[in-house]
Amino acid sequence: MEKIRFGLIGCGLMAREFASASARWCHFTCDVPRPEIVGICSPVEAETVWFKKNFPDIKYVTADYRDLLAANDIDAIYCAVPHNLHEKFYVDTIRSGKALLGEKPFGIDQNANNNILKAIEENPGVFVRCTSEFPYYPAMQIIINWIKEGKFGRIIEVHAGFNHSSDCDLNKPINWKRQVKFNGEYGALGDLGIHTQHVPFRMGFIPKTVYAQMDNLVKERPDGKGGTAVCDTFDNVTLVCTCEDRDGNEFPMTLETKRMNPGSTNRWFFEVYGLDCSAKFSSDDANSFCYTTSWGKEQAWSRIVVGYKPMLPTITGSIFEFGFVDAMQQMMGAFMLEMTGHEVPFGLFTPEETRISHELSTAALRSHYNKTVEKLEL
Ligand SMILES: NC(=O)c1ccc[n+]([C@@H]2O[C@H](COP(=O)([O-])OP(=O)(O)OC[C@H]3O[C@@H](n4cnc5c(N)ncnc54)[C@H](O)[C@@H]3O)[C@@H](O)[C@H]2O)c1
Repeated sequence: MEKIRFGLIGCGLMAREFASASARWCHFTCDVPRPEIVGICSPVEAETVWFKKNFPDIKYVTADYRDLLAANDIDAIYCAVPHNLHEKFYVDTIRSGKALLGEKPFGIDQNANNNILKAIEENPGVFVRCTSEFPYYPAMQIIINWIKEGKFGRIIEVHAGFNHSSDCDLNKPINWKRQVKFNGEYGALGDLGIHTQHVPFRMGFIPKTVYAQMDNLVKERPDGKGGTAVCDTFDNVTLVCTCEDRDGNEFPMTLETKRMNPGSTNRWFFEVYGLDCSAKFSSDDANSFCYTTSWGKEQAWSRIVVGYKPMLPTITGSIFEFGFVDAMQQMMGAFMLEMTGHEVPFGLFTPEETRISHELSTAALRSHYNKTVEKLEL
């Protein structure tokens, strides 16, 4: 089986997920090029301990990401670092000629995103994608296919969101995701927005207008050292967009990204309502989705338990359950296949889609500050 030799820049939460998924590649029953972790990079030595223990063959352990970019035996980089570092690290990776799996929001702001896109344009042979796991839930794959088949009829409205609640704990110490200088001005929209946009954008639901409500509910948090620190990011963001269907009919789409949504641990949801059919999925009930068809006066919601039927076939029986770690591995598998020139039914978030995402988020800021409805030409 083909191998892709990876360097991981950043050794935090997401890099560990990447490494763990790469360690159980035997899970796939189809031929998917295998990621092999050759190098890791973190300025915090303690973060490398888990990697060295579990991946004793790692060749490069460094605090300087440029060491990984200079290594001839690394083909691709997974870069999972705070948003303020995306521009420099991604641009340097692209210029090094290595493939890049970057993290969202793919640049801390629109200017950073533009510079990353410019580097991609100048290096057309380099394969670049941005992560997004949500579409790889089997239930979402079915809803995506139903949209492609036109099963919903004329669309009435679409709602997508990604909501957390851990920040409802006001004693939770601050981290970089709650500070504009590291996370960016978009706040929760930058941190979580792409997760809500991947399916709509790919289905052609591109906003023509946006109105944004952005709230910084908690302005100070414990700094983890006995004091307090300024928390200047937007905790909750709701976008109300106008989209257009294939026949030119307008419909509303809301995109929610919230860190203070009571009861939501890591709640991705997607709902599409149509004149012929409607469907809704939430990661709170990850193995099922609900749908209803219109029989006239009344509609009854049915719940289908989908089970383990992922996009890329695996050893797991279809009666079992699917979760985030599986979605992560499916997404990685799709990256490996796309990178090596294979078609996949649903590919990762593209650089062009990150441009649309940043246009939307920047317009959302204008809308919020000026209390306007912003027009978009995407
Ligand atoms: N796809 C997803 O579902 C998902 C989930 C969470 C976070 N993320 C994204 O992943 C990225 C990282 O988030 P995280 O949750 O893993 O954060 P994290 O804080 O757990 O990890 C960040 C890592 O970056 C490292 N780092 C900081 N400065 C560095 C430098 N100069 N050189 C090399 N490494 C450096 C840190 O040491 C740490 O290992 C962000 O872009 C975030 O938006 C994606």
